[in-house]
Amino acid sequence: MKLVLLGPPGAGKGTQAKRLEETRGLKQLSTGDMLRAAVAAGTPLGLQAKQVMESGQLVRDDLIVAMIAERIGEPDCAKGFILDGFPRTVQQAEALDAMLVAKGLGGIDRVIELAVDEPALIERIAGRYSCAKCGAGYHDKFKQPKTNGVCDRCGAKEFVRRPDDRPEAVATRLAAYRQQTAPILPYYRARGLLTTVDGMADPEEVARQIDRALGS
Ligand code: AP5
Repeated sequence: MKLVLLGPPGAGKGTQAKRLEETRGLKQLSTGDMLRAAVAAGTPLGLQAKQVMESGQLVRDDLIVAMIAERIGEPDCAKGFILDGFPRTVQQAEALDAMLVAKGLGGIDRVIELAVDEPALIERIAGRYSCAKCGAGYHDKFKQPKTNGVCDRCGAKEFVRRPDDRPEAVATRLAAYRQQTAPILPYYRARGLLTTVDGMADPEEVARQIDRALGS
């Protein structure tokens, strides 16, 4: 299955993609995670992406499309994949369709939109942090470690917050979603691929709604 998860920053795309990876054996392909890895490794792509990401703007379409085109050809994607954070512009959506056809992979099977109000998004992003060692995700209000200051998963005591989770960058990211990403919704609706789920519900209920949309 080839699945796209769409939604504004903080909608829960990463949360649901990780669950689907476990329950359905699909590979999560997060363009945000790939770019952050490129920034951390100091690759040419990372050097180009760093400032753009920290400001909350979108990285250039051609760079992103080339990155994904290479990734979906790898063996761990053979059983199917979940695109988390891609496509993010109509140009990326068109390039994705063309690349799947060129690789003989058919088309996207389903697009799930996670719909969440902006005040809730801001609250989710403002409180989010992760373990500096293993990346496990936490939240000041919704998900604290069981022992204060100690990662549940690996026991590390250092935590980090994303540079683009600062309020100025979050405002830019939300505007980028409204202006550049939301126009993708009619693109997929017109092709009969789009299902919108209530991303305001708790994560388990969101997961149930996605499972209903995907079938068994
Ligand atoms: P990216 O990493 O994709 O960030 P994003 O889309 O802004 O999404 P987030 O990771 O912030 O949120 P999410 O929807 O995954 O939510 P999460 O599950 O973490 O992109 C970062 C940057 O990279 C972009 O700004 C851009 O510069 C660049 N980039 C990436 N892709 C690109 C592309 N295709 N083109 C161009 N540039 C690109 O959840 C958020 C929080 O809420 C967590 O704390 C979680 O625990 C909590 N939570 C989740 N679900 C629920 C729920 N149902 N109820 C309550 N809390 C919940």
